[in-house]
Amino acid sequence: MKICKTVKEVRNTLQNSRSKGQSIGFVPTMGALHQGHLKLVEASKENCDLTVTSIFVNPTQFNNADDLSNYPKTIDEDSEKLMTTGCDILFLPDVKEMYLSKPQLRIGFDGIAEQLEGSFRPGHFDGVGLVVSKLFNIIQPDQAFFGQKDLQQFFIVKALVDHLNYSIQLRMVPTVRESNGLAMSSRNMRLSEKERKEAGLIYKALGIGQKSLLNSSDIQAVKKEVKELFDTSERLGLEYFEIISTDDFKPTESLFNKEKIALCIAVNIGQVRLIDNLMLIS
Ligand code: PAF
Repeated sequence: MKICKTVKEVRNTLQNSRSKGQSIGFVPTMGALHQGHLKLVEASKENCDLTVTSIFVNPTQFNNADDLSNYPKTIDEDSEKLMTTGCDILFLPDVKEMYLSKPQLRIGFDGIAEQLEGSFRPGHFDGVGLVVSKLFNIIQPDQAFFGQKDLQQFFIVKALVDHLNYSIQLRMVPTVRESNGLAMSSRNMRLSEKERKEAGLIYKALGIGQKSLLNSSDIQAVKKEVKELFDTSERLGLEYFEIISTDDFKPTESLFNKEKIALCIAVNIGQVRLIDNLMLIS
């Protein structure tokens, strides 16, 4: 696996592959890699000739300085995992390489970005949009791979690709889960053993919500049922549970377009904030 730390180096390396007609798959990450990330790398390897993974903890998408400084950094373990999985190129820029100076350009999204994660983390998706757009321009992949766990992020990136005319095929890869259903996340590293066990309630609640919704179609009753599951938990604090349409990520009043309906949740456990989701029809 080749490690490139500068934009120039990664561009030159990819130029070589592109001239040989190789297709490029791209997996953008912030490191602290787990099985979920490696699934994305595997999906890229299955679909493309060459796989590039980036590791860059992007400061512009953090609206909380503590969250940024606490974000786990495990570069040596990450490189090892990528090498074992068969990643071809690791792009590992530092902040100066990605942002020459204080960012002077902003990307804003109407609609989707103001809902759910966007309303709890103001500016988060603008930062994601900016960095993903920069990474797409640097790597110029044929396909890019994102996890379903960050469902709203996937649709933000889709808006970016559609509106800025990127010629990139986006792929959404299913969430990888621990044995109790907890969605794999870099943030899980910060949970104690007890918290990790109890966090299984998040997936359980989504499953109960999904089943009830399919049986009753009563959105308000299902919301109440799921909220009540968290009332009894001492450690888990429900931040939101919403039933939305992926058209706009607004709470939906109707289940008319079932294949677009998703159950989305955010939960706090101590200092750790976890999100998850299930499509109504999965
Ligand atoms: O999902 C992530 O890890 C990040 O939001 C991403 C897409 C790498 C952008 O920094």
